[in-house]
Amino acid sequence: MNKLFTKYLDLYDQLYYGSQVLYKKEVAEIIKFFPKKVENILDIGCGTGKHALELFKLGYSVDCIDISPLAVKTAKENLKKYRADIKLQNIVNYKSVKKYDAVLALFMVLSYLQKESDFTKALRNIYKSLNKHAVLIFDVVNGWQLENNFEPKLKVSGRGIKAIWSRKLVPQKQLLITSALITKGKNIYNEEENFRYYFPGQLKDILKQAGFKKVKIFIDYNGRKRYNTKRTKLCVVCYK
Ligand SMILES: C[S@@+](CC[C@H](N)C(=O)[O-])C[C@H]1O[C@@H](n2cnc3c(N)ncnc32)[C@H](O)[C@@H]1O
Repeated sequence: MNKLFTKYLDLYDQLYYGSQVLYKKEVAEIIKFFPKKVENILDIGCGTGKHALELFKLGYSVDCIDISPLAVKTAKENLKKYRADIKLQNIVNYKSVKKYDAVLALFMVLSYLQKESDFTKALRNIYKSLNKHAVLIFDVVNGWQLENNFEPKLKVSGRGIKAIWSRKLVPQKQLLITSALITKGKNIYNEEENFRYYFPGQLKDILKQAGFKKVKIFIDYNGRKRYNTKRTKLCVVCYK
């Protein structure tokens, strides 16, 4: 399991997307895709619970799962004001005891599953956990972008932290292999993260096979623009 979520979660939070304002904006976009009646939501790969926090504030009931013990602990602290059910779970082996009106897996969670068979297992588990007409919203790494505009080095910085990612592609396996050198002041951290990337047509086929009826793919949760080769994410909205 990668170290950003098991050891350096605070670093991850600061480096990427740390600001709660961005989560609030994303949640405002996401709820526009919700079916009419949404009471309970499952947030898969909840991280530190920032999407869940915004959803609770809007009055939804949210359960969370994450594979990282540190993420679960942190999400529990961040959501202690709310009645959140937060469990240590791998989505690949997840068996839901409840049914949900919306299931979310936001910020590349399902791209961390490196085998397509794990992805399809995860989708099967998710499908079983959905009520009729419920929605699944998730994003994965955009293969079109990687294979057309590949950058072997990527720099990310913010809030006093710098990360340089070295990246390579394994097209036969649709894998993006990355390693990073992250510096914060005098501290240096190493990280390795591998992602499975997907193509829009392929995703549609897999989701249809998993039983989903309506499948829409965008470049962000704004939902205005369809996918292209420039943006790194494929944002998927599909209904049971
Ligand atoms: C990039 S983070 C996104 C966290 C959060 N959704 C957000 O947007 O801030 C990916 C999260 O997915 C979790 N994760 C990765 N593989 C998982 C799996 N198989 N089952 C459940 N959670 C997983 C990681 O531990 C991490 O917290």
